[in-house]
Amino acid sequence: MSTPPLVADPLLAWRSRFPSVEGVLHFASHTLGAMPAEAEVALAEYAETWSRRGIRAWEERWMGVPGEVAGLVGQLIGAEPGSISLHPNVTSAQAVVLSCLEFRAPRNRVVCSEEDFPSVLYLYEGLVRRGAELVRVPARAGRRIEEADLIAAIDERTAIVAVSHVLFRTSQLLDLAPVFAHARRVGALSMADAYQSVGVVDVDVHALAPDFLTGGAIKWLCGGPGTGYLYVSPAIHNRLSPAFTGWMGHEQPFAFDSGPTRLHAGERRFWNGTPNIPAHLAARPGFVISAEIGGEAVREKSLRLTGRLLALADEYGLAVGSPREPERRGGTVCLDLPNAERVCHRLLEQDVLLDFRPGVGIRLAPHHYTRDDEVDEVMSRVREAVAAES
Ligand SMILES: Cc1ncc(COP(=O)(O)O)c(C=O)c1O
Repeated sequence: MSTPPLVADPLLAWRSRFPSVEGVLHFASHTLGAMPAEAEVALAEYAETWSRRGIRAWEERWMGVPGEVAGLVGQLIGAEPGSISLHPNVTSAQAVVLSCLEFRAPRNRVVCSEEDFPSVLYLYEGLVRRGAELVRVPARAGRRIEEADLIAAIDERTAIVAVSHVLFRTSQLLDLAPVFAHARRVGALSMADAYQSVGVVDVDVHALAPDFLTGGAIKWLCGGPGTGYLYVSPAIHNRLSPAFTGWMGHEQPFAFDSGPTRLHAGERRFWNGTPNIPAHLAARPGFVISAEIGGEAVREKSLRLTGRLLALADEYGLAVGSPREPERRGGTVCLDLPNAERVCHRLLEQDVLLDFRPGVGIRLAPHHYTRDDEVDEVMSRVREAVAAES
C-alpha cells in the first residue's frame, strides 16, 4: 500500500473549536477525545449558575439539560425523540436494561462475545446469580469475532444478545444488523454497545435495528467523562419496567410518593437518581459539533486517515493488529510492536497522545480534527520510538 497524496480537508474548519489539539499529536480519541473550548465555558457557566441561582437553577435550567442532551444523541443516531436516556456510563446504562429482564430457563441465555469490553462482561457474569446462562462467543485468529458465530449461538434459549458494534481492542467493526434480525426471529432481545462506533462510524439506529443501544461521551464525541446514554426501541419502551429505577423514573417525581412505583410512560422511564448535570453540560458541545459535521463526513475522513496510517505502517515494516478492510475498520489502528508499552510511554513523554492495550500493542486514532501531515508525523515518531526501545 503506498501513501496517498495530501488532500484538501473541509473538516479542518471545526479544528479551531478544539484548541487543545495544538502543540500535541492527538491520536487518542478512541479513549479520550479532545476537549472543545465550549466545554470549558459550559462548566464555568454551570458553576456560576449554581453559585448565583442556588436551588432555582433546577427549574430555570438544570431539569431541562438531560432531555436536551439526550435529544442531541438521538439526532446523531437517527433515533426518535424520547427514546434516549442519559446515564453516568455504559455499564450503568446496560445495568438498567438487564434489570428489566427475567432469566428463567428455558430462555435464560445471555449471548456476548469474549472481545466485548470487560466492564460489561463483568456485568453479564453477575447475571449468572440471577439465573442467567452466559454464552461468550470466542474470537477466531487475530481476535476476530465472526457474525456467523454469533448467529449460531442465538436460539430460542437466548434472552438477550449483547455485543459491541466496534471492538475496543482491535477496532473491528461488526455487521450487527443480520445478527439482531436473527435474534428478533427467534424471540430474543438485542443490545449494541456502540461506544466505539457512534461519533466515528456513521450509525443509523434504524438500519442496525437493536432493541437497545448504549454509548457514551468520552471518546469520539469529545464530551468528557460522566455521560453515557441508552436508546430503547419505542416498539418495546413501555413493555419494560426496570428494577434498577429511582425517583426520576417515576410518573411524578415531585409527588415524593412512597410507592407502589408508577413508572413514567415517556422519556424518563429509564432514569433513576439525580442526573449528572455538570457532566451533561460538558458533553453538550462535543455532541453539537459531531452533529454539525455529520456522521458520513467523519466516517469518510476516518477511513482516509486510517488508510494512511496503514500504508505508512507497511512502508515502515510495522505489524498491524487491527482489520485492514475498510468495511471492517473502526476508527483506530493498532500496531503490534516489540516493547509496545515502553514505546507508548516514550511517545506520551513527547506529547504524542495514544495508548497501549495488552494483546494488540499501541492504538492510534485520528479524528475529524486531525491533519494528514500529523498522521505522517506520528508514524515517523512511532518508527523512531520503536528503534530507540529495541
Ligand atoms: C466498547 C466499550 N464499551 C464500554 C466502555 C466503557 O464503559 P463505561 O462507560 O461503563 O466506563 C468502553 C471504554 O471505556 C468501550 O470501549
